[in-house]
Amino acid sequence: SDPALVARARAAKEALGERVFVLGHHYQRDEVIQFADVTGDSFKLARDAAARPEAEFIVFCGVHFMAESADILTADHQQVVLPDLAAGCSMADMARLAQVEDAWDALTAAGVADSVVPVTYMNSSADIKGFVGRHDGVVCTSSNAETALDWAFAQKPDAKVLFLPDQHLGRNTAVLEMGFSLDDCVVWNPLLPGGGLTEQQLRDARMILWRGHCSVHGRFSADVVDELRAKDPDVQILVHPECTHDVVLRADLIGSTEFIIKTIEAAEPGSHWAIGTELNLVKRLAAAHPDKTISFLDRNVCYCSTMNRIDLPHLVWALESLVAGQVVNRIEVDPETERWARIALQRMLDLPG
Ligand code: 13P
Ligand code: SF4
Repeated sequence: SDPALVARARAAKEALGERVFVLGHHYQRDEVIQFADVTGDSFKLARDAAARPEAEFIVFCGVHFMAESADILTADHQQVVLPDLAAGCSMADMARLAQVEDAWDALTAAGVADSVVPVTYMNSSADIKGFVGRHDGVVCTSSNAETALDWAFAQKPDAKVLFLPDQHLGRNTAVLEMGFSLDDCVVWNPLLPGGGLTEQQLRDARMILWRGHCSVHGRFSADVVDELRAKDPDVQILVHPECTHDVVLRADLIGSTEFIIKTIEAAEPGSHWAIGTELNLVKRLAAAHPDKTISFLDRNVCYCSTMNRIDLPHLVWALESLVAGQVVNRIEVDPETERWARIALQRMLDLPG
């Protein structure tokens, strides 16, 4: 990265000292991650943001929903900054509050809303988390989805779960970790009237999966897994649970970005790995572990374009603006949404484990 920008970022951070705390998600670029005070998966970053009450400014190098969650979990006097406001998440955009409210109305009409516990993946907007908080549900991340679903199913006799917005995380967790069958799951398509489901299907389902997905993880294919195994029988396949069910079924290990990192750190020298997650992280792991063979589980490059929007020029601009006394790109969730979203997030933070 540009040495002049590196020097400016360093100087601005030094000038701000303890007043600023920089969080970096594992999918961030190397040029940005070098300035993170902590790195983590979305669960760890939510906890870390809440654990820094002395920092006046939280600069979030990640995507919009993560910065919103940090704002919800930090004190009112702390200001959260997202260096580029265009760093969103296409999956989070697939569930809008009005659409979720329509789905809830349909569940009410089918006579099942009383037994439905909503669970939303962290990758959702603050107003979806607020909806979930208002309806006695919980947030989850890829590192605690099973625990969150266990909690949800224990809330009511004959409970059903409405799982937002990632159908793959929901299905993979329910079927592979919790013993549900594929027939227990139905998919609610927000673009079709009634979600494309009959009232009977809503009554019979245990898991109602929102039709959302990650465009980055959706690219990994079962064919490539089969090809790699045919070429290298020793290869171990390690994937994120946002991958499709077909890919996850063929994997050796499945887990969050933090799990992926710990797995590679603990792996035997000489072991072979193909990793199905965002490319910045896979490249960093390959560079940090030259004693292991680490490859990317796709034929093409596959960055998360919105994570990549946070680059060094944006980080420098955000930090230097803070030094100059100007808070740019502040992420501020409105108080009513925040109140309910915090309840749903706090339930997640209080889960066992
Ligand atoms: P982790 O929760 O594993 O960090 O993954 C979140 C993710 O996909 C970020 O988009
Ligand atoms: Fe969203 Fe997928 Fe990018 Fe994660 S990797 S921020 S889920 S688009």
